[in-house]
Amino acid sequence: MRERYVIIPAGGSGRRMGADIPKQMLRLGGVPVLRRTLDLFTTGLPFEVHVIIPVNPSIKSMWVEYCRSEGLMLRYILVPGGMTRFHSVRKALGYVPDGALVAVHDAVRPLVRREDIVRLYDEGEKWPAVVPVLPVTDSMRLVAPDGSSSMVARDGYRLVQTPQVFHSEVLKNAYRTAFSPEFTDDASVVEKAGVPLHLCPGNRFNIKLTTPEDMALAETLLRAKTIL
Ligand code: C5P
Repeated sequence: MRERYVIIPAGGSGRRMGADIPKQMLRLGGVPVLRRTLDLFTTGLPFEVHVIIPVNPSIKSMWVEYCRSEGLMLRYILVPGGMTRFHSVRKALGYVPDGALVAVHDAVRPLVRREDIVRLYDEGEKWPAVVPVLPVTDSMRLVAPDGSSSMVARDGYRLVQTPQVFHSEVLKNAYRTAFSPEFTDDASVVEKAGVPLHLCPGNRFNIKLTTPEDMALAETLLRAKTIL
């Protein structure tokens, strides 16, 4: 079995959330989002995961203060974030050796299930790049710059989630490329390097916290999860 790593990009400012506090540090069920995401990889898994978290300086000071106030003694490496998610992940990859499995999981997806984390790492033993996806259930339209729109055959599309799991040497090699704004996730960087992607089922509970509505939804899902 390859050694297992996770990069949790937490360097964003969370402007779309419209709150003073970046979304990684907002409280969900009373606990900061980043703490919830970190706990999923550091507790309750049947294997050890080395954690690397890129953060910007303002989040770092909030996080360090939170850990001090809670007396938290967790093992992870904090590294400086970059200008974009791409740059944050690239910096973190400098701390990952070749020959390992590395997952990249957005800090703002605190509802991923541990069973899915385990399944995706296990798939990663067999494939160089594993990507969880969902079918599209709404109808879709392609909107032109003039506001006109046309129908799209939704069956051919998938929504892409994290954690995405890679052979570390494959991801590190792919990240040697120049930045492109099209790189909204790691699968797109790896695809550019010509590596085939293995798509696996994602989970609808694993939402990405982006807008205030997402926080309300996450609170509800969290309560439902503790009941289930
Ligand atoms: O804003 P976006 O949807 O791209 O954010 C996805 C994840 O990437 C978030 O967890 C965010 O904190 C992280 N990110 C980062 N460094 C940046 C921008 C975003 O680590 N400069």
